[in-house]
Amino acid sequence: MGGTGLLITEQQAGHRLSKGSFKAACTAWEKRCIPQYEKLAAAVHEFGCKQFAQLFATGVHDRGTMQIDEWHPLWGVSAIPSTVFNEMPMVMGQAEIDDIVSGHGDAAMNVLRGGLDGVEINGAHSYLVGQFLSRAYNVRTDGYGGSVRNRCRFALELGEEIRRRIGTEIPLGIRLSFDEFVRASASHRRRARKPSKSSLLPASTTTSASRPAATTRSG
Ligand SMILES: Cc1cc2nc3c(=O)[nH]c(=O)nc-3n(C[C@H](O)[C@H](O)[C@H](O)COP(=O)(O)O)c2cc1C
Repeated sequence: MGGTGLLITEQQAGHRLSKGSFKAACTAWEKRCIPQYEKLAAAVHEFGCKQFAQLFATGVHDRGTMQIDEWHPLWGVSAIPSTVFNEMPMVMGQAEIDDIVSGHGDAAMNVLRGGLDGVEINGAHSYLVGQFLSRAYNVRTDGYGGSVRNRCRFALELGEEIRRRIGTEIPLGIRLSFDEFVRASASHRRRARKPSKSSLLPASTTTSASRPAATTRSG
């Protein structure tokens, strides 16, 4: 008796553009992860323990445009910069949202094929799911912003896609933060701006900076 019943990996990238500045992050959406998951499953199962993989996308907390090797655009929920990296993102449109959702489906399938026992979405620590949920980062006026239901839409779509792909055999969970450590920051609020022509969404999908204030990252 005793011992550990469940282990959950550190967050693994659920999409090709979504590992942010974590250069060494596992890219769960790539099939080459499957043999590595198989090794992990074998090592953990030997002791009667279960192993889940946690999937995430960084969203605006990303320094990808500062990297030469793995340059990638910065996709954000709204035109509000990360308080950590301070860079204005391109606002995600439906195509980008769908791409990230689909990537997480691929990643979850790789977790399943690798023989792990469950999937957890990282909705915590102010990463992408948390940014959609947050009134500090989400000032959208389309179906993904505003009401609680709308701010939850992205998380629900991720869950539905993953469940559709992996079926009902293995557990699927989500980790949430209940304290964002949000505090007023006039400088952050000032930096929120109306989208420029280069933003991906039409102007009607984001709002001015009249919404709540800033946040510090919680994780
Ligand atoms: C270096 C480091 C990396 C972490 N990575 C993750 C992560 O990938 N996913 C996650 O959900 N939590 C992550 N956490 C948060 C931990 O899971 C945990 O919530 C935090 O360390 C607080 O632990 P405590 O509740 O035992 O005090 C990380 C924490 C640290 C210190």
